[in-house]
Amino acid sequence: MPTFADKIRLTTMLLKGKEVADQIKIEIAEEVKTIVDKGVRPPHLVAILVGEDGASKTYVKNKELACEKVGFSSTLVRLPESTSEEEVLAKIEEINNDDGIDGLIVQLPLPKHISEHKVTQAIDPAKDVDGFHDVSVGRLTKGQDTFISATPYGIIQLLERYKIETSGKHCVVIGRSNIVGRPMSILMSRSGNPGNCTVTLCHSRTVDLESYTKSADILIVALGIPEFVTGDMVKPGATVIDVGITRVDADTPRGYVLKGDVEFESSEKVAGYITPVPGGVGPMTIIGLMQNTLKSHNLKFSN
Ligand code: GUN
Repeated sequence: MPTFADKIRLTTMLLKGKEVADQIKIEIAEEVKTIVDKGVRPPHLVAILVGEDGASKTYVKNKELACEKVGFSSTLVRLPESTSEEEVLAKIEEINNDDGIDGLIVQLPLPKHISEHKVTQAIDPAKDVDGFHDVSVGRLTKGQDTFISATPYGIIQLLERYKIETSGKHCVVIGRSNIVGRPMSILMSRSGNPGNCTVTLCHSRTVDLESYTKSADILIVALGIPEFVTGDMVKPGATVIDVGITRVDADTPRGYVLKGDVEFESSEKVAGYITPVPGGVGPMTIIGLMQNTLKSHNLKFSN
């Protein structure tokens, strides 16, 4: 007779990022309360938003709401599209020098006339809670303690909280972006848990992509093409992590639906575990950012 545990393993399990994120927010809020009860100021995150990109405005708003929920201070610096690179760099310098601020993020993408590289390198690595600075990326690559960029950090914690075994498994990451795919591939190959995977990093020039996806025990898809991965590309029982979230025009009250990079209907019939979109990776990304901000604060005050 299969036990209850066996039975639930026979069906696909949703990796409910929203629920895990809500739980971790409670844990962070408790830690912030302890900090404030000791008479120390709460962690403070600053976001710089340049221009009017609609998706970026939504992301920044969600980050502000999350800060409020866990008891952090947050400041949004809104700059017009016409702001020069020098002005953005000057603002970053001002924030770097402000001891009352623990974390600074500059929402990407930036307007074309501003160099993303210069901007991310201008942020003090001690406040780089996005983990985009070369110092953070270098430390991550060498397995040293650092700020891990929020989406990969969130995914790692989702795997951890669901106790998904990763050691010795084949992890296939699709997408080599600096924000998700590349750091994800490094984290999954590192010594540790989650980690210890044999990792294949696939991208737009990969030949016969399906031969890789079909052998993936853990498939992480971050390429930004709605429903690119279909069920026939997934290995039975695999853990499928869908990082994509794209607005697709639809005859709905909002005029669109949100689609991941994985076709959910066909893939959930094959996978062992799968993240829904929305409610999977997205909420965990914000958690990664909150945890990095708390870590920065703790590094400053816990000595
Ligand atoms: N744009 C898309 N994702 C991110 C992120 O994680 N951080 C920042 N700063 N910009 C983004």
